Amino acid sequence: MIINADVIIDFSNPSNLEEILTFAQENKTAVLLCTTGYSSEDFKKIEQASKNIAIMQAGNTSIGIAVLKLLVSLAVEKIAEWDYEVIEAHHNRKTDSPSGTAEELLKLLQTDEDKDSIRFGRNPKTGKRKVGEIGVHSIRGGSIVGDHTVMFAGKDEVIEIKHRAVSQDLFASGALRLARFLKGKEPGRYYVEDAYK
Ligand SMILES: NC(=O)c1ccc[n+]([C@@H]2O[C@H](COP(=O)([O-])OP(=O)(O)OC[C@H]3O[C@@H](n4cnc5c(N)ncnc54)[C@H](OP(=O)(O)O)[C@@H]3O)[C@@H](O)[C@H]2O)c1
Repeated sequence: MIINADVIIDFSNPSNLEEILTFAQENKTAVLLCTTGYSSEDFKKIEQASKNIAIMQAGNTSIGIAVLKLLVSLAVEKIAEWDYEVIEAHHNRKTDSPSGTAEELLKLLQTDEDKDSIRFGRNPKTGKRKVGEIGVHSIRGGSIVGDHTVMFAGKDEVIEIKHRAVSQDLFASGALRLARFLKGKEPGRYYVEDAYK
């Protein structure tokens, strides 16, 4: 099937990736992947496809999250020695955890990937917090649209940087903004940050 579209926007399920990439390459159409929960194999397929089409994987299309990431990067620069924890909350139908946005925040927080270990939740057997550990906690319930908090805990003081999505509409309007950016771009891999420069 041939389509005449500028950009394909996908918010669905990672299992659709191969079909979307094949279709987009056949049609030479740019792709904005807003779905989360992709595996490392999936990211290799995205990388491969970016040789033929313009492609962006946007784990969060919200402008507020783009700003939150800037604030987190600034905090990491200033208070590298503090303890970091990420807490995210989503509705009870979400299939992946932690959220794609939490994964992106973790990348910003990891100053040294070999040293900074990620701790997915804690349980009675977890034991004491290790130096350099970064905790990530996923809450699932009801119709929560999407909350992300990055906590910086130092001696005698705590900073929390929090974003709350109150309606899914913001993801749609953010995606349209990113799609307008992708329209007509040369094949390659593009990032949300590119659209806000
Ligand atoms: N990047 C962002 O800013 C952002 C924001 C919100 C969500 N997300 C991500 O987007 C994805 C969907 O989230 P959601 O909360 O919207 O989930 P959802 O409520 O389960 O919606 C997924 C939709 O995709 C449809 N779908 C799945 N496979 C399909 C296929 N092969 N053909 C046609 N339609 C298909 C589903 O249809 P049926 O109901 O008929 O199965 C459903 O309408 C998740 O990966 C989520 O993490 C990203």
